[in-house]
Amino acid sequence: MYACVCHAVTDEDVRDHVEAGACSAKEVRAACGMRPGCGSCVNRIRALIEQHAAAEPGEAIATAAA
Ligand code: FES
Repeated sequence: MYACVCHAVTDEDVRDHVEAGACSAKEVRAACGMRPGCGSCVNRIRALIEQHAAAEPGEAIATAAA
């Protein structure tokens, strides 16, 4: 699923950058090379970051659409 349609960034792309240490929507956007866009993905990115923070270490994060 696309987290950001404007820049074709997927949920998996976001998860990869969060796993690598990005801990805010701003950091994820920068890591993904996202330029300013419509901004409607910010809540989705924040939700993915929160899912990651809530997951137990080593626990897979659900890939189902929110
Ligand atoms: S959906 Fe991400 S900037 Fe538009």
